[in-house]
Amino acid sequence: MPMNYKGSHLYFGKYKVETLAKKFGTPTYIYDLDLIAQNIQKHISAFHGNVGIHYAMKANANPQILRLMKKKKIGIDAVSGGELLWALKHDFVAQDIIYSGVGKSSEEIELALRKNIKLINVESPAELIRIALIAKRLKKKARIGIRYNPDVSVDTHPYITTGFRENKFGMDKSFLPELKNLLTKNKKHILLEAISLHIGSQLKNLSPLSEAILKTKPVYKEFQEFGLKYFDIGGGIAIDYHDDTESPPSFVEYGQMAQTLLKDLNCKILCEPGRALVGGAGALLAKVEYIKSTPFKNFAIVNTGMHHLIRPSLYQAHHRVLAANRHQGETLTYDVVGPICESSDFIAKSRIISKLEADDVVAICEAGAYGFTMASFYNLHRLPKEITLYKGRATETKPMLIKDLL
Ligand code: LLP
Repeated sequence: MPMNYKGSHLYFGKYKVETLAKKFGTPTYIYDLDLIAQNIQKHISAFHGNVGIHYAMKANANPQILRLMKKKKIGIDAVSGGELLWALKHDFVAQDIIYSGVGKSSEEIELALRKNIKLINVESPAELIRIALIAKRLKKKARIGIRYNPDVSVDTHPYITTGFRENKFGMDKSFLPELKNLLTKNKKHILLEAISLHIGSQLKNLSPLSEAILKTKPVYKEFQEFGLKYFDIGGGIAIDYHDDTESPPSFVEYGQMAQTLLKDLNCKILCEPGRALVGGAGALLAKVEYIKSTPFKNFAIVNTGMHHLIRPSLYQAHHRVLAANRHQGETLTYDVVGPICESSDFIAKSRIISKLEADDVVAICEAGAYGFTMASFYNLHRLPKEITLYKGRATETKPMLIKDLL
C-alpha cells in the first residue's frame, strides 16, 4: 500500500503527505501512476498477455490515468456517450472501446456506431431492436455482445451487485429464445461477437465469478453459430480497504481461474477491471477545519466529505483515515465529518486516529476508484484538485469541463 509512516510522518510512496498538501492545497486527490502501471502489468502477465483488458473508466477518468492505460496498450469500457467521447479525447481509438450500460439513448448508440467502436454490450431485447434500427439507418453492421445475467448472488454491498436475477442488468436465461429470433431476423445489421457478464463490484472471493462463468458457458455454446469471438468476464475484483487484514483475490488467481474455466471454448477473454487497477493507488488529502468535542463524540470536521467521496455515506464503505503527522503517538476516537448540511455527510465513524488538531492534514486512503468520478457540487463547494505522481513528477490535472461531455 502506498501510505506508510516513517517516524511520525506519513508518506505516499516517496512523497511526504504534508509536503504534498502544502504544495497543492486541500482537498486534493493524489494518484500514484507508478503503482497503477504495476497493477496493469500484473494483470496482463496473469493472463499471459492473452486477454483484452478494457479499463472501466467510471472508476477514475483522470486524463493522465487514461493516457497511461493507453500507453500500456489496454482499452476502455465506457458506460455513456460522455465516457466514450472522453476516451477518444484522451488518445484511445474507437477500436479500443467497448460500451456497456442498461440505458443507452439513441443518440449514444448512434455515436458508438458512427465512431465504429469495438463492441456494444446489449442489456435488453428492446435495446437490441433500437441498435438494429439505427444501424440500418446508418447502413452499418453493429458488433454487439449479449450481457448475460447468470443469476448469482454475491457477498458485497447490495447496491453494487449486478448479476442477480432481481438486478436491472443483463438478460437472464428466459430471454434467450427471443434473442435468438432477434439475431436471426436482424443478421444484416447485427453481428454477435461476445457473451458478456459482470456480476458486481468489490468481489472478495472468486467463487461467485467462477459460478457465473460456468453458468454462462452453455449460453456461449448455444450462440456460437452467430460468430462469437469474445467471452467478457466483466470486472469486480476487490481491493483491500483495511490495512492488509483482508486478502482480495490476486491477479494471478483471477487469471488462472478464468483461463482454466474457458480453455475449451477457444475464445478470446475480455475483462473490465476498474477498482483493482486504480483504487489502492489514490488518496484524498484533506485539512481539519475544527475539532468539536461533545459529551458523546469527538468530531474532526474536515474540508471534504460526501460531496467528494460519497462511498462511506452511500455504501457504509470503510476508508482508512491517517494523520499526516502523529503528535506524540496519542490516539482518540473520532467521527470524521464534512461541511455538508446533512448527517449522512461523514468519512469515518468512531475511528481511532492519532490525535488531531485544527489545520492538521489527513489522508483518506484507497480513494483512487469511485472517488472523484462520483463527486458532486452539492452545497456548491468546489471539486477537489487532482494530482498525478509519475516517475518522480507531480502533475496537476486541468479541471474537467462539462462542455467536453455529451
Ligand atoms: N464492468 C461493468 C459493466 C460495470 O458496471 C463495472 C462497475 C465494472 C466493469 C467495473 O467494476 P470494478 O472492477 O471497478 O469493481 N460506485 C461503486 C462501484 C460501482 C461499480 C459499478 N460498475 C463503489 O464505489 O463501490
